[in-house]
Amino acid sequence: MTEVLVVGATGKTGGRVAAQLAARGVTVRAASRTPRPAAANVTPTPFDWDDRGTYTAALAGVDAVYFVPPSFRTDYPPAVGAFVEQIAAAGVERVVYLSARGAMAGDHIPMRAAEISLEKAGLPATVLRPAWFDQNFTENFLHPLIRDQGVVAVPTGAGRTPFVDLDDVAAVAVATLLDDGHAGRLYDLSGPESLTWQEAAETIGKVTGRQIAFVDMAPADWEAAAVGMGVPADYAAHVSELFSIVRDGREDYVSPDVAQVLGREPRSFGDWAETVRDAWLP
Ligand SMILES: NC(=O)c1ccc[n+]([C@@H]2O[C@H](COP(=O)([O-])OP(=O)(O)OC[C@H]3O[C@@H](n4cnc5c(N)ncnc54)[C@H](OP(=O)(O)O)[C@@H]3O)[C@@H](O)[C@H]2O)c1
Repeated sequence: MTEVLVVGATGKTGGRVAAQLAARGVTVRAASRTPRPAAANVTPTPFDWDDRGTYTAALAGVDAVYFVPPSFRTDYPPAVGAFVEQIAAAGVERVVYLSARGAMAGDHIPMRAAEISLEKAGLPATVLRPAWFDQNFTENFLHPLIRDQGVVAVPTGAGRTPFVDLDDVAAVAVATLLDDGHAGRLYDLSGPESLTWQEAAETIGKVTGRQIAFVDMAPADWEAAAVGMGVPADYAAHVSELFSIVRDGREDYVSPDVAQVLGREPRSFGDWAETVRDAWLP
């Protein structure tokens, strides 16, 4: 029977990957610093990116690994490199790494540095590079301001993003963990249409019946505001660079990869928004 280690299993993607695997009867080791209680097919597993000793026990005996790097920081490439070495030493058959489209910006981007670790270790991993998630508007940094003040404030200008639904990202991850033919592949994951962030705000306005304003912040102002709210300066600069990719149009393309892996089209931002509209009610 397949046993899969999911690193970041209490997070937005890992939680969905763990749940979809468990629903298919796969045994899951759900790893994070603060594991949740056990559930059917899911065993909570202690894991700390800052404690390399936890890697060994988490990896022992598993057939496959899904991992996301630690959140809200940029210093993780050495830890990911050490983890990848342990994966290779453990002889794990399948590895799926959640990177991001932002890796396109160059080797200085931490997500790309982690991809390079996999290449150097000679692991035929599957790398997922999603576009910005739909769920940034409900489960992440954009949500409180939309719900409380009806505002989407980002430095994206008229740049377009083909937002992707995390249920689709997780479904791709599960397929690549369980099915043959995905080793060594890089999948760019997007939704079916590219929207400006103003159009995304308008979609939220339409499904909620609320007035949702789009505020195009100057990149330096956004970064300063993030730091002012306690975001570490290096991470704020990193996210600001990711926004610049949107702003200058490099994210404005739709990828066929979700449909290619799943055999069906990804869900649109509008369809997804209808299903979560209550999250935006004050
Ligand atoms: N937001 C977007 O639009 C977007 C788009 C494309 C790609 N991405 C990528 O998505 C990734 C984030 O994935 P996500 O949204 O699933 O993350 P998330 O919701 O922030 O969850 C992070 C997970 O990692 C665990 N974690 C955090 N720090 C840890 C540490 N030091 N040691 C062990 N576990 C730790 C957390 O659990 P504990 O806190 O319990 O440890 C949690 O389970 C990022 O790398 C980002 O580049 C994001």
